[in-house]
Amino acid sequence: MKVATILGARPQFIKAAALSKALENEGISEVLIHTGQHYDPNMSGNFFTELGINPPQYQLNIHGGTDVQQTARMLASLEDILREEQADLVLVFGDTNSTLAGALAAKKCGFPLAHIEAGMRSYLPNQAEEINRVLSDRISDLLFTSAERYRSILTTEGIPENQIFNCGDLMYDLFQQKWEKRSLPADAHLPKQFALLSIHRQENVDSESKLSEWVQALNDLAIEIPLVCPLHPRTKQRLEQFGLHLNAQILEPSPYLEILGLIDKSSLVITDSGGLQKEAYFGKKACLTLRDASEWLELLESGANRLCNANNLLEQYRKIIKDQHIFAPLYGDGQSAQRIAKTIKKQFS
Ligand code: UD1
Repeated sequence: MKVATILGARPQFIKAAALSKALENEGISEVLIHTGQHYDPNMSGNFFTELGINPPQYQLNIHGGTDVQQTARMLASLEDILREEQADLVLVFGDTNSTLAGALAAKKCGFPLAHIEAGMRSYLPNQAEEINRVLSDRISDLLFTSAERYRSILTTEGIPENQIFNCGDLMYDLFQQKWEKRSLPADAHLPKQFALLSIHRQENVDSESKLSEWVQALNDLAIEIPLVCPLHPRTKQRLEQFGLHLNAQILEPSPYLEILGLIDKSSLVITDSGGLQKEAYFGKKACLTLRDASEWLELLESGANRLCNANNLLEQYRKIIKDQHIFAPLYGDGQSAQRIAKTIKKQFS
């Protein structure tokens, strides 16, 4: 059996790192197709080396442009490859433009499609990621959820129950494998206490007024607790473009093991990333989420993750830092990859 995995952005490399080995163990061959969405060594190539992911057989080098242009270019390029490869199943992860392009290309070429991290919803219909995940779920044949509750979200939307498999969370698998190997950036001079900050979502950084509000709020917070921020290239560009100064220790985008090390040393995590919200929880750190909604409902319910806006960031920080949090297991047992691979094999045998 052959699977064609389409990936392109940093969080997808992390999930592929957890899954590829399990596919191999089940005797499933895998063709990796990298769209090129992320392309800086710190955002892409280094993850392959660090996490031991096989080099992709195809590299489309498609990045930049508007979301529409990017998705359209990926879609067109993927068709030829998928027709050439004739895989039994096409696999996509998460909610990026690479996910949607991969999903659409697969189904339009007539190949079965599996979506990993299915059922997530922010219920913000105009959010780029929400569009990508809703549409990918809608056309998938196999939908793998990270937690049981996402099954009912999918069935409510009309997805047949027998297409949904709750296998747990691939990011938790990788976290479990790598936590003991965590490290720290060699060039960072970390304060004794600090908040680990990441901010990159387009709804937070692309508009000058919105980003200014965040920078003001974060700079106010930095008076109480120093901020350490591995800076996403999108945010870097926007800060420069709008002439804004973020009062934080700025680092290059961090390799996986260093993100784990930074989480470990931090007092809390402040982020708008989907993945880092979960990794903070895995590392037993409270998290302030810089958004109006999180698709990780169980994190919000745990109380260890709280939404905030620029007006209440400081107040929310003061509250969350003094509360006690319980980090009950939410995302499986670290064996999700194996379960996904076995399910795929069973479905196609
Ligand atoms: C994408 C995902 C987002 C995910 C994030 C993880 C979509 C719609 N968004 O957002 O859900 O949380 O990846 O990081 O797919 N850039 C570089 N070098 C790179 C990558 C990006 O310079 O290696 C710059 C480019 O100017 C690019 C911009 O950042 O245009 C935005 O990158 P893009 O991949 O379009 O979206 P992300 O913001 O990374």
